[in-house]
Amino acid sequence: MSDKQIDTIDQKLDKERIKEKDKDMLKVIESVFDDQTRMIVFKLINKGVLKEISYVVSTGKEANVYHAYGVENEELAIKIYRTTTAEFKRNWMYVEGDPRFKSYKKGTYSFIYTWARKEYKNLQRMLKANIPVPPPTAVSKNVLVMKFIGENQNAAPLLKDSKLKKPNKIYAKVVDFLFKLYDDAHLVHADLSEYNILFHKKEPVIIDVSQAVLLDHPYASVFLYRDISNVNRYFTSLGVQTLSNDELYEQITETPPSPKIKSMEL
Ligand SMILES: Nc1ncnc2c1ncn2[C@@H]1O[C@H](COP(=O)(O)OP(=O)(O)OP(=O)(O)O)[C@@H](O)[C@H]1O
Ligand SMILES: [Mg+2]
Repeated sequence: MSDKQIDTIDQKLDKERIKEKDKDMLKVIESVFDDQTRMIVFKLINKGVLKEISYVVSTGKEANVYHAYGVENEELAIKIYRTTTAEFKRNWMYVEGDPRFKSYKKGTYSFIYTWARKEYKNLQRMLKANIPVPPPTAVSKNVLVMKFIGENQNAAPLLKDSKLKKPNKIYAKVVDFLFKLYDDAHLVHADLSEYNILFHKKEPVIIDVSQAVLLDHPYASVFLYRDISNVNRYFTSLGVQTLSNDELYEQITETPPSPKIKSMEL
């Protein structure tokens, strides 16, 4: 057999393999997504935002996260908010009082789209303030596309699952993010803990920012105090000599926390 013939056979085989792969991919898309989400994913593929979805990184209460490749083989994370979840009902609290998102209806698809858009905007805002978050690349309805934090299809571990060699240093960085969030992004994360920080290349990266609120949100101070308490609790458990919750709150906001802020449970 000539080299040329071998090449032709190889090419044919490759084509078949690609077809098989496409079929698998179709199967994934068809079995996992509802009709509407499937359409959005196909549209994103047609638009050249993504090339393929490879596997499920996480299935959560409100969203699933997938690993995907972009057209230049860059690794992406696709967060798909569930359109059928009762959990969303409690989330109105974070959107209400945010002038950026006025036109939504509680308990509808449009509310979930607002949620995805809110995460996209919050990510952009945090990036601008030099806070390490996954840069977002697209948002369409309930689908958010962002940079994948990790390497070779392995997502970076959560901070809670990482062995920190220098917890003091990481604490200082997370505290610095809290200041930047407040001073530069004018946001409070509102769900900050070792569960929503990834540890990548020895650096903390903040994720899951859909519920972050602007500082004039009626509960911003309560959320901030809660974020501070979570961060301090975690790093104290690693033996770090943290500031007290009150000290850190006062340093960030320049006002001591009121008893109401400290005791309110939301
Ligand atoms: N950009 C990313 N790169 C890599 N992994 C990611 C990325 N974003 C999210 N993940 C992974 O997906 C998981 C869930 O993401 P996220 O915290 O944003 O969603 P969630 O709505 O809080 O889900 P859950 O209900 O499970 O808490 C994360 O814990 C993380 O492991
Ligand atoms: Mg999370």
